[in-house]
Amino acid sequence: MSLMEGLLLQAPSTVTLVGAVLFLLVLYLLSSGSSSEEHGKEPPGPRPLPLLGNLLQLDLKRPYQTLCELSKKYGSVFTVHVGPRKVVVLAGYKTVKQALVNHAEEFGDRGINHMFNEINKGHGIVFANGDSWKEMRRFALTNLRDFGMGKKASEEKIIEEIRYLTEVFEEHKGKAFDTTQPINYAVSNIICSIVYGSRFEYSDPRFRRSVDQANEIIQLGGSVSIQLYNMFPWLGPLLKSRTRIIKNVTNNKEEMMELVRGLKETLNPQMCRGFVDSFLVRKQTLEESGNMNSHYHNENLIQTVANLFAAGTDTTGTTLRWGLLLMAKYPHIQDKVQEEISRVIGSRQALVEDRKNLPYTDAVIHETQRLANIVPMAIPHTTTRDITFQGYFIKKGTEVFPLLTSVLQDESEWESPHTFNPAHFLDEEGRFVKKDAFMPFSAGRRVCLGEGLARMELFLFFTSLLQRFCFSPPPGVTEDDLDLTPSLGFTLTPSPHQLCAVSRV
Ligand code: HEM
Repeated sequence: MSLMEGLLLQAPSTVTLVGAVLFLLVLYLLSSGSSSEEHGKEPPGPRPLPLLGNLLQLDLKRPYQTLCELSKKYGSVFTVHVGPRKVVVLAGYKTVKQALVNHAEEFGDRGINHMFNEINKGHGIVFANGDSWKEMRRFALTNLRDFGMGKKASEEKIIEEIRYLTEVFEEHKGKAFDTTQPINYAVSNIICSIVYGSRFEYSDPRFRRSVDQANEIIQLGGSVSIQLYNMFPWLGPLLKSRTRIIKNVTNNKEEMMELVRGLKETLNPQMCRGFVDSFLVRKQTLEESGNMNSHYHNENLIQTVANLFAAGTDTTGTTLRWGLLLMAKYPHIQDKVQEEISRVIGSRQALVEDRKNLPYTDAVIHETQRLANIVPMAIPHTTTRDITFQGYFIKKGTEVFPLLTSVLQDESEWESPHTFNPAHFLDEEGRFVKKDAFMPFSAGRRVCLGEGLARMELFLFFTSLLQRFCFSPPPGVTEDDLDLTPSLGFTLTPSPHQLCAVSRV
């Protein structure tokens, strides 16, 4: 109640105070009486306060945990008021799958909050809807296939990048260091190769600045102050995090525009170097045929490129860092991974086709993604039309959180949901088994567009790093001391830490 009291104490007189209390009471009674609608029953949930909704019940540092707790009380489809925003939460594997896969269309629009609307303005892929989203998503997918995912070419790009990353790790000569920057630079370079057709040196100050700034945007994007901004946009001018995000976005946009200008000047339609070239050629072709109003305009180009970097760098880099941290924390599991790699591929470079012969390593990578749970509430969705789901009425345009934590840690799907246990993905003979509730990339119409690329990167980077290095805590720090509590951001990252990477070759 202290937040309420704080707000009320600012009222100038007793009369105003009494008036305000009465007004809030009326609003409260009106809002709590509206659960039974003319169309049917709405999903249940905790009683909201006017304006604040259920804010006082939500731990904004771990909102996904509060929502998991609430689902125990209110069931797998429930309503929560995030400040003034009414949100329907979907919890548990069966419910999330039923909504996102069986009702893909109805649950398939994006919920776009203030911060990301301010940045993306409805362009690009991640925070867009309608025909423009459909066109950009389709175009990006085709191009990722041509220049990236599932192709020998991207395997080669990743392997080339592994060589550079390994060099950086070796330079530390077994001394403890923070792996964040080199891993982010390596992973970002994979997107650079697909998008621009070339990679950058890790020492290039412009490249470092862009990657570091994009990383900061993702981290600040999920902070408590930005969550509050998305509930109460009038707070905007007071928030340092918002100013910082806008500054970083502006800098990165300028950098991207300069790179695009360079590609435009040297464009050869017969030989596309990457996504940007393909986009520019498509734009030119459409314009030459007289279509000046297509979705292929500069804003969509820049926002789509920015989305691919934002969605494709931090996520993959963070997962890799979780993987290395878990190996340092559980050395007996690291030993088993290394034994399998030595036995199956020896010292030659790991290839995508080796995955099927490395079931234990594959299980460890899957278990890392399951436990790390880096996008705990997916990215908000909205309903495209009125729908009655599991007996509850949900209105068109309602914001929906598919609670991925509740899927990846669903007690009826996983033997030991809260511990790191690669056996979740192994049968009794030690063969790899797929699990339906493995959903770190979400599902349905908005499923992660980079899933194929991310899986290839995780496998090649993880296997190659474990082949060459043994990971352990810094001197004086025990395995038990390594903290698995995540830092809050748009994705859940490991708390700041250092590791030793001791060469095995
Ligand atoms: C381990 C790595 C990754 C994880 C765990 C991950 C996870 C996710 C999740 C949970 C979503 C939201 C889905 C939803 O709204 O239901 C998403 C969306 C998206 N991801 Fe990924 N992602 C990863 C890597 C990548 C990569 C490498 C790329 C780009 C090449 C990428 C591009 C995207 C895009 C563009 C979207 C938005 C899709 C849309 O709105 O239509 N992601 N990702």
